[in-house]
Amino acid sequence: MTGYQGPQRVLSGIQPSGGMHLGNYLGAIRKFVELQHKYDCFYCVVDMHAITVWQDPAKLREQTFHIAASYLAAGVDPKIAAIFHQSAVRAHAELAWIFNCVARLGWLDRMTQFKDKAGKDKQRASVGLYTYPVLQAADILVYKATHVPVGEDQKQHLELSRDIAGKFNHDFKADDFFPLPEPLIKGPGARIMSLRDGSSKMSKSDGSENACIFLKDDADTMTRKIKKAKTDPEPLPSEPKGLEGRPEAENLVGIYGALSGKSDAEVLAEYGGQGFGVFKPALAELVVEKIAPIGAELNRLEADPAYLKSVLDAGAERASVIADKVVREVKEIVGFVV
Ligand code: AMP
Ligand code: TRP
Repeated sequence: MTGYQGPQRVLSGIQPSGGMHLGNYLGAIRKFVELQHKYDCFYCVVDMHAITVWQDPAKLREQTFHIAASYLAAGVDPKIAAIFHQSAVRAHAELAWIFNCVARLGWLDRMTQFKDKAGKDKQRASVGLYTYPVLQAADILVYKATHVPVGEDQKQHLELSRDIAGKFNHDFKADDFFPLPEPLIKGPGARIMSLRDGSSKMSKSDGSENACIFLKDDADTMTRKIKKAKTDPEPLPSEPKGLEGRPEAENLVGIYGALSGKSDAEVLAEYGGQGFGVFKPALAELVVEKIAPIGAELNRLEADPAYLKSVLDAGAERASVIADKVVREVKEIVGFVV
């Protein structure tokens, strides 16, 4: 435990590298909305992380607006939480450099996301992809954020952020200067799987177009994707234990539960014994009911880039006030002339 006494703050970020999908919504954005009423919240579009792999410049700009619009469409209120893009707050990059000198090579060598993203030929990966988790630690700690809502896949990066915060505090004898940020992962929806393969996570980069439900999919597309979702021939079990070894069934029941606010047990109490011919249409109806209105709002907001830019600018200004102050303190601690 730490003796950190500062204010409780929340930071999270999403990369503008593709369309927002059901996994992003249930694993991250939905939590952003709930948390804004409890904490001081900072929601970032992490464009500097996106360029660790190649991004078409025109698309990057468009997708930055898309992510900002997704936050808003899901219900993040820009009057309450700061919504901004990372590259507009220069303190992130400044702190990241200092953290590059705190983090150890051995720590980064263990990061599984680098291994997955770099693929077989890691000599050809960008240096940025390697130090990606260090920039992520800077995103969080430049606000001294205490809580970070993310999906399950970010657990290891959050551990690294805690290690960096702890080593900085220790090396500079700056007791409890940085909090050790807590990941907020738990809850239904922390790991939504592909509709085509229950063993890989739903992801915007999945090769199969039916694997992923995008927030902008129209009702017919969502329904078609759910009807085509891979399943097994057995009816649904009447208890969660019966989902063991049936990852696709488990995923669909999990999505139903996450969207309806029911536990797996409650969903199965209702649908146990039924086949997917009954369950899939019910799930499709629920997904359309909950997600289509967000998609419609997203389309409306994307048609007004000037408004989105004004939200991002105002958010960056608010975020900079905190971030610049923290970086100034860090510079003093490190021994830079300020
Ligand atoms: P990404 O799209 O990888 O930038 O992820 C943005 C946020 O969504 C992060 O908090 C992820 O942990 C979360 N996320 C991404 N994919 C999933 C998924 N399939 N299930 C749950 N959360 C996810
Ligand atoms: N690495 C995160 C992802 O791929 C995105 C991210 C960047 C992030 N900086 C962050 C998430 C800070 C939480 C906090 O999803």
